[in-house]
Amino acid sequence: MQYITAGESHGPQLTAIVTGVPAGLELSERQINSDLSRRQSGYGRGGRQTIERDQVQIKSGVRFGRTLGTPIALVVQNRDWENWSARMAPFGNPPEDLVREVTPRPGHADLVGALKTNTDDCRNVLERASARDTAARVAAAGIARELLAEVGVEIYSYVTSIGSVSMPEEDPMVQAASYRSLDIEFSETRCPDEATTEAMKAEIDKANKAGESLGGIFRVVALGLVPGLGGYASPSDRLTSRIGGALFSIPAIKGVEFGLGFEAARRPGSQVHDPIAHSQQDGFYRTSNNAGGLEGGMTNGMPLVVSAAMKPIPTLMKPLDTVNMETLEPEVASKERSDVCAVPAAAVVAEGEVAFVLANAYLEAFGSTNMADLKQSLASYKKRLATMAR
Ligand SMILES: Cc1cc2nc3c(=O)[nH]c(=O)nc-3n(C[C@H](O)[C@H](O)[C@H](O)COP(=O)(O)O)c2cc1C
Repeated sequence: MQYITAGESHGPQLTAIVTGVPAGLELSERQINSDLSRRQSGYGRGGRQTIERDQVQIKSGVRFGRTLGTPIALVVQNRDWENWSARMAPFGNPPEDLVREVTPRPGHADLVGALKTNTDDCRNVLERASARDTAARVAAAGIARELLAEVGVEIYSYVTSIGSVSMPEEDPMVQAASYRSLDIEFSETRCPDEATTEAMKAEIDKANKAGESLGGIFRVVALGLVPGLGGYASPSDRLTSRIGGALFSIPAIKGVEFGLGFEAARRPGSQVHDPIAHSQQDGFYRTSNNAGGLEGGMTNGMPLVVSAAMKPIPTLMKPLDTVNMETLEPEVASKERSDVCAVPAAAVVAEGEVAFVLANAYLEAFGSTNMADLKQSLASYKKRLATMAR
């Protein structure tokens, strides 16, 4: 499966086209809409989220609720377009009162994008560099999530820190697999710990008052994966690189850790690697999950646990120094309606990115033409593993 998206932040709509989806997968707009609304929520989001009510429309590739095995086109309307139709018109002359964006924001794509594309209006860049595009990506990833649900895989995410506030964790890898979606969804910061949620909200309020912005760290967990997805033979087979790449494709993600991550580098081997055990009922399993479910670039049957760090939002209400691109004089960076903190939203986007990689790994291993063949092949793989357990 592959997706491509198109659409400007304040254009009429976002579009995603997903190819390579097997025929016969049950899809519901309701499920995708629930992911879209989770992406829009979270304490610290900006005014845009009060304007948009993201809803997906499926325009092709689905008939009577099932995929046809043909390209699927998905559309999410931008309600804000009506306020921008003159400033973002595809044709005609710019309006006379158009204000060009000439004071690029440090930390965003504004300056480098303008230099690269030979424009003196950073809006030409920021309209696409904006994370509004992640709405289209979440919609596309909804298809992968439905596919994974069909093969018994559940994906969720939670936020472990925002700014300087971190959730207390005694054994993060064990705890990661024990959270339930409801506890996370009830938290305005997607943090399963109630007291930390309140502390995170206070941290965001403080940042907001100071004209500041915040980043943070979140985890994505996938349960129910069969061992052996991905591969060790070639660099492009390794799920470690594919999941890492997918997470780094999300704007503002600056670090990714698998399992214990960087902590593993500080410990001796015996306190890192997960001992192998075997039982009649479970076959091979591990007595710990420090690897976060990946070994040799493949799933090892334990929960996949991957963490990502997001940098603070670049748009600041107390802006940093910049240079006016017209006058070349020092100035302060432009202010644009903006999130103070979007870590909970980024976590939802990351669930989708991880889902897309994992769904592809299932298609590669068990067939990609139709869901019936895929499930049959998966069942026979599971049967063989169970036989090996004896
Ligand atoms: C869900 C989400 C929401 C974001 N919202 C904003 C925002 O409101 N304002 C902003 O300046 N940056 C926002 N960003 C971050 C920028 O998109 C990002 O910092 C910018 O593209 C540069 O990041 P990069 O250097 O990693 O590409 C958001 C990112 C994500 C993932």
